This record gives sequence, structure tokens and C-alpha cells, in this order.
Amino acid sequence: MSYYLLVIIIINVLAINIHGTEYDYKVDCSNLRIGQYICPHPKYDIIDRSTQQIRGCTKKNKAKVDCLAADGLICLETLNNTFKKEIPCKWTNGYSFETSVLLSVFLGMFGIDRFYLGYPALGLLKLSTLGFLFIGQFCDVILISTQIVGPADGSHYVMPYFGAEINLLFSDNFTYKVPQQDW
Ligand SMILES: *[C@@H]1O[C@H](CO)[C@@H](O)[C@H](O)[C@H]1NC(C)=O
Repeated sequence: MSYYLLVIIIINVLAINIHGTEYDYKVDCSNLRIGQYICPHPKYDIIDRSTQQIRGCTKKNKAKVDCLAADGLICLETLNNTFKKEIPCKWTNGYSFETSVLLSVFLGMFGIDRFYLGYPALGLLKLSTLGFLFIGQFCDVILISTQIVGPADGSHYVMPYFGAEINLLFSDNFTYKVPQQDW
């Protein structure tokens, strides 16, 4: 009986030792899979106050951020448990969503909203026709407040990070539901 106990204690001590030395398993962190890292690193504040987006967001809607590898992993590129990874973000160029909606509602008949967003031709057209006799203004209020029309340079509206942002989803070959026999 006591012999078995001794064996179990020894095995446990060995297991703890093995576990303790496990901590430097060196890997190429760019190949980690979901669940083996946290991105962005939970300790760092990555949101830029003025753009309300991830810091360093580029025109390609990607930002390089610090990430944290799972316990026991050491990244070859930094020799610690952090590494850099590109994650999606929304590139903004200073066009405020609130300003756009307000301009559209109150000055849309003069095309000011279109001038602001960088569509001078449409702005001029609206200016000279009183927003197509307010019909065009009405359409633009809807288009802008539903975020279908954005800034002409392809950037995204500046709005609070957890704000009323709309993501448009489109049906394509990847999202198409294949009809099943038992439907
Ligand atoms: C990890 O290594 C990188 C580059 O060597 C360094 O910039 C960073 O501060 C290190 N991070 C930690 C948590 O030690």
C-alpha cells in the first residue's frame, strides 16, 4: 500500500517538473491557430481615441497589433510570448458620421452633405435643383444614415467604436444555402 503511494507521489513530482519546464516551447507564432493566441493583446489599449478604430489602421483595412500566445509558447520572432499580427479594422479619413447625417437632414437641399463627403458633381446638381425638389435630399438622408453611401475616398465614417455601425451583408456563392433533400 505505502509502496503504491510512494510511486504515485514520485510520478506526480515528475509530472510537475515536466510541466514546469514545458514553458519554453518555441514556435513560429504566425502559424498559430485560433485558440492558441489572443489577438489583440488584452493588456494593451489599441483603440485610437480620435478615429475610434484600431491604431495604425491602413487603407487596406488592416492593422498590425500585438498579440499574446497561449501559456507555454514562446514565439521565435520575439523570443517572448507576444507577436505581431494583422487584424481587420476600418480605415477612416476624418469623415464624421454625425456631421454627415446632420448636414444631410438640414442642408441636403443645397447638396452640402455631398460636398462634405467628396461628391462635388452630385452636390452641385442638388444645389441647383434644391435637392431634386427635396426628393433627392430625402433619398440621401436614407442612403447616408443607413451608411450605404460613405465618403468618396472609400474610407469609413468616424463613429464610436461600439456605435451604431452597420455592416452590409451580401449573398454570394459562399453564403448561398444549398437546398437539402429533407427540407
Ligand atoms: C517581447 O519582445 C519584443 C521584441 O523583442 C519586445 O518589443 C517586447 O517588449 C517583449 N514583450 C514582453 C512582454 O517582454
